[in-house]
Amino acid sequence: MDPFAPRQPTHEPMDFGAIMKLAQALLDEASEGPIAPETIDALAQSEGVDRAVAWAAAGSHPFIQLQRENEVAVAVCVGRCQLWGGGDLLEGALELREKRVGEGKSGFDVIPRNCLNRCHDAPMAFVVLPEGSAGFPRATTDDLTAMMAELDSLSD
Ligand code: FES
Repeated sequence: MDPFAPRQPTHEPMDFGAIMKLAQALLDEASEGPIAPETIDALAQSEGVDRAVAWAAAGSHPFIQLQRENEVAVAVCVGRCQLWGGGDLLEGALELREKRVGEGKSGFDVIPRNCLNRCHDAPMAFVVLPEGSAGFPRATTDDLTAMMAELDSLSD
């Protein structure tokens, strides 16, 4: 088995040209310092693209650093993992974060990445805590939701 192409793709890749265009815009912004999540969302809106495309752009260049606002972060691969649903997973993580904040629960940072070195488990995500990290192979939004609920129960 080719570990970098573990299964037949299940999803179409995002528009690479759009990702590169938005990456350049974010790279220009990044010279001022880490990028706020609102900046990425605003860019998606002004360019008329899906939010996942702008977030994938934010994860595509090593010099684009995102602002950290929470102790917990969820890193989502939107590199080759796009072919197995990485874009949907990223969108799901963003929606989960908003839902939790709307319910008065703790938020988390969403960190898009080009590869998390577990390509054979695509789509891959990691929940990153100050104490360490937990990997989620073939991750789903339900996995992330359950993990955040588990963390809620530990902090009660
Ligand atoms: S491409 Fe997603 S983990 Fe490597």
